[in-house]
Amino acid sequence: VSDEQFVDALPKVELHVHLEGSMLPGTVLALARRHQVDDIPTTEAALREWYAFKDFNHFLEVYRTAVKVLRDEDDFALLARETALGLAAQNVRYAEIYFTPYIHAMRGVPIEDVFAGVERGRAEAYAATGIDIRWITDIPGGLPGADMRMVAERTVEYATTYGGTGVIGIGVGGAEVGVPRPQFAEAFAAARQAGLRSIPHAGETSGARTVWDSIEHLGADRIGHGIRSLDDPALIERLRTDRIPLDVSPTSNLRTGVVADYASHPLPTLIAEGVPVSLNSDDPPMFGTTLRDEYLHALRDLGLSRATVAELAAAAVHHSFLTPDRKEALL
Ligand code: HPA
Ligand code: ZN
Repeated sequence: VSDEQFVDALPKVELHVHLEGSMLPGTVLALARRHQVDDIPTTEAALREWYAFKDFNHFLEVYRTAVKVLRDEDDFALLARETALGLAAQNVRYAEIYFTPYIHAMRGVPIEDVFAGVERGRAEAYAATGIDIRWITDIPGGLPGADMRMVAERTVEYATTYGGTGVIGIGVGGAEVGVPRPQFAEAFAAARQAGLRSIPHAGETSGARTVWDSIEHLGADRIGHGIRSLDDPALIERLRTDRIPLDVSPTSNLRTGVVADYASHPLPTLIAEGVPVSLNSDDPPMFGTTLRDEYLHALRDLGLSRATVAELAAAAVHHSFLTPDRKEALL
């Protein structure tokens, strides 16, 4: 069989993808028109150019501008439904999807509408395809000019007040440099007290220290990216022995400039070191990728065998927060 047939036949789980970073080009353009948002490109070609990021901070700037097209409950329902259906079409059976309620609340979108929308989209996609998705509410780390402890506290409040059964975890994303993780310790403690899992981004744009802090201060159950863990052999040992998984997204790392090219991507080394890892898409349309493409890159550009790639797909099931019987059913 071809690589494509091999990848398509693999039942997959996605553990690291952002709802707001999953807007299809046509959806961005349509919502920008509907709401008359005028600082967004107006053609797909211009949008692709807009998504050529100079560096990680440039990516974050574009991200914060793009989300302005999301204005009401219907927009969030549409985005959640489209995102889940897009995953289902790639033979993804289950996904844990980040979204960042604070950045919508701060723009004046009623928080009830954000949650009502994403929950409606989630239910519609489940009814249509049986794909099961869960939410990870993400704290936007390093919002310029914001009181970060307040932002973190608010995000946990939203998750526990409006999340219903859809929210399974708390995360922190955005900038890492200049945003020490320990300041989020109280917010993560409150979230964990409420039964949420801890899935911070760390070791993407800053070094091993951020990953250590995420383990020791935020009780990380998994780490978003974490590729810079390789800077510290003691940290690699900790991840391996305590079985703390890294959610790795190769194309994201290339497009934000934190890794130079596929040939120098650390995923094969992490696997060789025995660190638990899975393969993920992060912000697929913004990075010109899909989860399917990430699996194809793993085969063709990272030099992983089909057996290893199949193990990565099974690893994502194991690293998910599904119950043991649900995991069993997916393997
Ligand atoms: N890292 C940090 N913040 C983000 C990302 C990411 O990969 N995607 C969307 N927000
Ligand atoms: Zn991410």
